[in-house]
Amino acid sequence: MEGIASRMWEIRQETPSDALHIEQLAEHSFGPGRFAKSAYRLREGVDADKDLGFVAIEEGAFRGSVRFWPVYVGRDPVLMLGPLAVQSDQRGRGIGIALMNRGIEAARARGHRAIILVGDPPYYSRVGFSAIARGRVMFPGPVDPARVLGLALADGALDTLEGQIRRARLDNPVCADGAPLGAAE
Ligand SMILES: CC(C)(COP(=O)(O)OP(=O)(O)OC[C@H]1O[C@@H](n2cnc3c(N)ncnc32)[C@H](O)[C@@H]1OP(=O)(O)O)[C@@H](O)C(=O)NCCC(=O)NCCS
Repeated sequence: MEGIASRMWEIRQETPSDALHIEQLAEHSFGPGRFAKSAYRLREGVDADKDLGFVAIEEGAFRGSVRFWPVYVGRDPVLMLGPLAVQSDQRGRGIGIALMNRGIEAARARGHRAIILVGDPPYYSRVGFSAIARGRVMFPGPVDPARVLGLALADGALDTLEGQIRRARLDNPVCADGAPLGAAE
């Protein structure tokens, strides 16, 4: 019964009032170095998928969050999972897995075909992610190829995934001549 009693958190869709908590958690979890990461560059100037942001709340307290971003790999629209973060004193309670499972379920229900991410294989394999063959998905900066993972939501969706990853659109200008990465393709 202890397991049930200790799980008082619930997962709900993100609302605008969660934004500050999410940003503070990202700062705490990833620090300023996050802005230099290849995955972050793909999010810059682009709004997260508004239907696929989820937060974990426990008795009114924010515990963690997950977001998904629209990207293209070659000509295929896919989702990129992240950032995923849980408050440091709340980790190990299953919140991270529950956030991802909720997001994955919602993405599948909305007809998305595949999700990719850059992360630790042993953790993300728990929700079904596996390595994408080296060199198949090319990032706009350095990434460890062993950490490029994918999850097919439709049969065979990862099998043909190949090419440069780039932003699906540009919602907010990021510089005077800001254009989606790889838009010239
Ligand atoms: C990664 C993170 C989201 C996990 O959240 P969480 O709520 O603690 O995860 P869960 O409770 O669902 O799962 C915990 C389990 O995953 C394991 N785990 C957590 N991070 C792991 C990692 N990087 N590699 C392998 N296993 C990991 C834990 O050891 C634990 O294992 P156990 O169930 O056998 O005890 C959290 O640690 C975090 O916010 N980290 C900082 C930000 C980050 O690195 N985010 C991921 C990159 S986007």
